[in-house]
Amino acid sequence: MPVDAVPQDVRSRRRLYGVLIFVGLISIPWIIQFIVQLRREIYVPTEDAVIAKMFELAKVTKDDVVFDLGCGDGRIIIEAAKKFGCQGVGVEFNPTRIAEARVLLAKSGVNKDLVDIRLGDAFKVPDLERATVVTLYVLPAFMAELEPQIKTRLKPGTRVVAHDYWFPNIERDQFVEVDVGGPRPKYLYMWTVREAKKK
Ligand SMILES: C[S@@+](CC[C@H](N)C(=O)[O-])C[C@H]1O[C@@H](n2cnc3c(N)ncnc32)[C@H](O)[C@@H]1O
Repeated sequence: MPVDAVPQDVRSRRRLYGVLIFVGLISIPWIIQFIVQLRREIYVPTEDAVIAKMFELAKVTKDDVVFDLGCGDGRIIIEAAKKFGCQGVGVEFNPTRIAEARVLLAKSGVNKDLVDIRLGDAFKVPDLERATVVTLYVLPAFMAELEPQIKTRLKPGTRVVAHDYWFPNIERDQFVEVDVGGPRPKYLYMWTVREAKKK
């Protein structure tokens, strides 16, 4: 049919569909980026009973420096400082969580010099080598991406305890289940960094 013969309302509707399809297509990368970011920022705090078990597995003492990568409201490092008098470093990229962590620290009565709450990317921690204990409650993709730093940057003897997810290529020392009264137990994985094998 010649274009002129197509009724005006049909032509308008086609133009509208064309614009919608175009906008939809150019938005796809932005939507993917948005979903990825949303997933990375998922915040689910670790339950107190699970935190206590993480400390037990890592054998935390007052001499430790506990790093929580993706620390949320900082509850793990604040509790470590409160319970053992050890140092804690929490790294979190969501400013809302950081503000919550600072309020929690202020309310906790813990010596502020023991707890360092940092706004930043957990993959870019300049002094990760200071850690003697690392705690993690993050998604599998995060665990896989962090694995090379765990292998190369941590001192031998450093304990790493992760809640629910594991490193794909590091053999764990311990695995325990913690019953928190939910539909399933919570899983904890523990690794101890070993001396690099001499070649
Ligand atoms: C499941 S929550 C756990 C919070 C806390 N560690 C706990 O166990 O209660 C994971 C946290 O990691 C943070 N996160 C994820 N990727 C991150 C990154 N690359 N750098 C810093 N924080 C990150 C999220 O914003 C979220 O607050």
